[in-house]
Amino acid sequence: MKIIHKPNDLRSEIEKLKNTKGLSVGLVPTMGALHDGHLSLIKKCVKENDIAIVSDFVNPTQFGPNEDYAKYPRTLEKDSALCSEAGVDIVFAPAPEDIYDEYYFKHKETTLICPPYDVVNKLCGKSRPGHFDGVCTIVGKLFNITKCNRAYFGKKDAQQLFIIKKMVKDLYFDLEIIGCPIVREEDGLALSSRNTYLTAESRNLALNISQALFKAKELFDKGIKEADTLIDTALSYLEKPGLEAEYVEIVAQENFEKIDTLNKKAVMLIAAKVDSHEAKIRLIDNIEL
Ligand code: PAF
Repeated sequence: MKIIHKPNDLRSEIEKLKNTKGLSVGLVPTMGALHDGHLSLIKKCVKENDIAIVSDFVNPTQFGPNEDYAKYPRTLEKDSALCSEAGVDIVFAPAPEDIYDEYYFKHKETTLICPPYDVVNKLCGKSRPGHFDGVCTIVGKLFNITKCNRAYFGKKDAQQLFIIKKMVKDLYFDLEIIGCPIVREEDGLALSSRNTYLTAESRNLALNISQALFKAKELFDKGIKEADTLIDTALSYLEKPGLEAEYVEIVAQENFEKIDTLNKKAVMLIAAKVDSHEAKIRLIDNIEL
């Protein structure tokens, strides 16, 4: 397995492999701090492609000024060992300066991919203005650098996956986006790199998020189709000291617009903040209905 830092080095390596042997390229974009959720995407990517690339880059443009960019876990050595074990061919681990130019560092502005306002400024985008512009920009850059045939994303970031699929369609990126199921701990907690911030106590509180989703699904399976009833039930799990629901919403899978009655494929999404030490840890999760 190769670890490559410079975009142009990655480009030439891939072009060499692709052109001489006509091989397919799969990409798993990550911000590192790999866990079993990432590994499920990585294993699928390795299985389905001749060349499997994992990008490991904490992308500054998707973090707001008061978010955890500086303290986001950076564990390249451990991540590389996991990738190597999983059969990955290349880990792409650029520095911010390899991806963004001097203009960005001087003016804090760069060329961005900006999906429509209403798509990015709801749900997670409401409390994280600019977040999805940053995500689309880095993902677009990674698609252009790797010219991958397939890219793998987790369904835990459901809004991100929806927006990336839209970007690929709108901008005619020539690749397939593959959404992969959420991976959970045995007790239901969705795997997330931010779980490393949780204490035993706050982890217990965080469990209410998945429990709220499971309960809503149970009621839905019993025939309850009114979004408000399902949302109120979910909210009752989140009304606990130390837990603060940012949103609980139900949207149609086809367009991510709110629905009142679940007469088409839907998804319930939750974002909540959990008190842990002095900090509030923001977690997201969702369930398809
Ligand atoms: O989901 C993530 O980890 C990030 O948003 C992504 C897609 C790697 C872009 O930085």
